[in-house]
Amino acid sequence: MCKFCWTLLLLLLLAIGGVVYKFGFLGSVEQAPDGRQALLLTVEERNLVLGEMRAFLVAVQQIIAATNREDMEAAAKAAHKVGMAAQGAVPPGLIGKLPMEFKKLGFSTHKKFDELSLDAAQLGDPQHTREQLAVLMNNCIACHATYSLSPTH
Ligand code: HEC
Repeated sequence: MCKFCWTLLLLLLLAIGGVVYKFGFLGSVEQAPDGRQALLLTVEERNLVLGEMRAFLVAVQQIIAATNREDMEAAAKAAHKVGMAAQGAVPPGLIGKLPMEFKKLGFSTHKKFDELSLDAAQLGDPQHTREQLAVLMNNCIACHATYSLSPTH
């Protein structure tokens, strides 16, 4: 192959690598005044993320209430609602704006709700479920400590 073609190929690969790095790892963020990383989202994208958050909060409340009355089927159902299946609706444009660490934490949270759901149904042990919830909620804390959402973009 000619020298020019190799150069062109190299540039093309670099460009593709750059795009993958930007959208796969960095996401679309800026340093917020409170020290966190603010995700730069559109109003619709922000609403979608916050809606998912409120569903997390509902699930946490329902799981605690269900374990208190030892209704482990209800606990399993509440957790399943915010498991991996709930994540399917995230549009590709939004995924590209999320930093890798954010995606990892979000993914792991959905996965942990699925595990909690399965265990609640199979073991039926309220104490075990509460312990899982306590561990899972470290994900909520970690992500909120690092990221915020910017409403202006
Ligand atoms: C992958 C990151 C991430 C994870 C994991 C996460 N959150 Fe959030 N959450 C956010 C961000 C970012 C905001 C916006 C915070 C801000 O702008 O100050 C938010 C906001 C919220 C809000 C406010 C919703 C609103 O309408 O304003 C609630 C409630 C919430 N989260 C609950 C939870 C709970 C409960 C969990 C764990 C089960 C959780 N979140 C896990 C990133 C996350």
